[in-house]
Amino acid sequence: MGELSKDELDQYAADGFLLRKGVFDAEEVAALVAAAEALYAEDSPARTVERDGVTVRAVHGCHASSDVFAGLVRDPRMLRPAQQIVGTDDLYIHQSKINAKRALDGDVWQWHQDYVFWHEEDGMPAPRVVNLAVLLDAATDINGPLLLVPGSHRRGLLASERRADEADGSFWDSHLAADLKYTVRVADLVALSAASGIASAVGPAGSVLLFDSQIVHGSGVNMSPIDRRMAIFSYNAAANVPVAPGAGRPEFLASRDATPLRPASWRGRLAPAGTPGVG
Ligand code: SIN
Ligand code: MN
Repeated sequence: MGELSKDELDQYAADGFLLRKGVFDAEEVAALVAAAEALYAEDSPARTVERDGVTVRAVHGCHASSDVFAGLVRDPRMLRPAQQIVGTDDLYIHQSKINAKRALDGDVWQWHQDYVFWHEEDGMPAPRVVNLAVLLDAATDINGPLLLVPGSHRRGLLASERRADEADGSFWDSHLAADLKYTVRVADLVALSAASGIASAVGPAGSVLLFDSQIVHGSGVNMSPIDRRMAIFSYNAAANVPVAPGAGRPEFLASRDATPLRPASWRGRLAPAGTPGVG
């Protein structure tokens, strides 16, 4: 399962997202989970914690730091749909993250558009970029699923509420934390959701959610006793390299390596389930 059908492409164009179930099987998901947990356990600047200071919120840059995720982003089940949506074969990963949304302690992602961060902070010229999110756990109504406003991507970049950078020099913290730097204004959310409602990306582990870089999205706290881990890869056109990647943002937030990805089978190279196969 790689190629998107015409119906899927049409649905993606209309809604700004598409959930494909059953893309990765249980063995593959187990390998991804093991690799994610190994990264969560590693003390590194690429790891962020929740406001409680202890619960892991996310790890960034896994497509570069882990053999397992480096393989995943080249898997035709990921790369091919991304190529179809962006409309070019030459894509690279601008950003990757594994959001933990831990049981009981996983915090919110406020309503936002992704592209505003990449445009404002990195100088990405155009929204020629698509997100592919792999559900590492089942996302359900109760464990803080991603919420999306269907069709909101068609409004382009909205004016954002923005908050000032931290004075202590850790300026990029607000690009990842529960209080985000750029958020969608409440009036816009009210108007957009009145028109098209709010959808939740619920589905079994191994599903892949494709979503537009300009769709309005966010997620609530996870007060359930079940984790909702999700790995998100942002495939950018190699011809759309940011003019100032990062301007100081670390590599794990804004990749400097725009070498186009080529498809490669990942399934055959899997470590046995349960083995932390992290490079
Ligand atoms: C989430 O993991 O719920 C939010 C992800 C995102 O905004 O990219
Ligand atoms: Mn986002």
